Amino acid sequence: MGIATGDFDYIRKLVLDRSAIVLEPGKEYLVESRMLPLLHSEGFESIQILVSKLRAGGMRNGLSDKVVDALTTNETSFFRDIHPFEALKKNVLPDILEKNKSIKELNIWCGASSSGQEPFTIAMILRNDFPQLLNWKIKFISSDISREMLDRCRGGKYSQLEINRGLPALLMVKFFERDGTHWKVKDDLLKMIEFREINLSQPFPVLPRVDIMFLRNVLIYFDVETKKSILGKIRKVLKPGGYLFLGAAETTMNIDSSFERLQLPQSGCYNLKG
Ligand SMILES: C[S@@+](CC[C@H](N)C(=O)[O-])C[C@H]1O[C@@H](n2cnc3c(N)ncnc32)[C@H](O)[C@@H]1O
Repeated sequence: MGIATGDFDYIRKLVLDRSAIVLEPGKEYLVESRMLPLLHSEGFESIQILVSKLRAGGMRNGLSDKVVDALTTNETSFFRDIHPFEALKKNVLPDILEKNKSIKELNIWCGASSSGQEPFTIAMILRNDFPQLLNWKIKFISSDISREMLDRCRGGKYSQLEINRGLPALLMVKFFERDGTHWKVKDDLLKMIEFREINLSQPFPVLPRVDIMFLRNVLIYFDVETKKSILGKIRKVLKPGGYLFLGAAETTMNIDSSFERLQLPQSGCYNLKG
């Protein structure tokens, strides 16, 4: 028997309220399959029992956080989609380095970092391709709504399978060390990044104005009003002339006209009009 409508609606509203992620009717199968591991780990026999626990105040033991976590998509990989990182290396960073050369400061925010492959990719590019940045002041914030994902980021540990998905061997040798059956990001790279819990659908905490913002593959889960509100807040955090990277299936078009798409194929890169 599938998930009851009332239980689905309860979970749908919980996820919407907490994360702004929209689970449309028709996504019952997704909720069912994503809940299975949680049912096992928490010892519930059915979604119905889990929801009744939530209704009775399961909030207190973090159960609702676990439900929201289970329903967020954390898919990511090193150098995902490659083109954005080419644009970062060939166009965006050279421009920012030129603009900021007198102050020697660079601020970056990666706003939905999942298990960390994206921020570590950016950090590797900074270290590997821009040695002149070594004497710059770099403020690199990486955030996500999920505590579990943030713990993974802070640990910087990846399986061979995760490493094989997109990380060039030369960079692996340079920036990772063996840790049992896993690979661990070396301390030097790990220390470049400050990992923080930030819910994009809530008011942002006080943040430094940034030159570059990565916000890839997260807007896709929100409704238009939420996208509008998030892009509006990002407009205030980005420096004029700053750059925003979105995922391949995302756009600012018809949502926020203050961003201009760069004519770089498949980069998903936008410039905040000055
Ligand atoms: C598909 S991953 C994208 C990871 C990475 N940016 C990439 O493109 O490979 C989406 C991430 O967005 C996070 N997320 C979902 N809703 C969020 C919210 N309201 N605020 C902050 N992060 C959120 C999820 O926890 C997940 O880690």
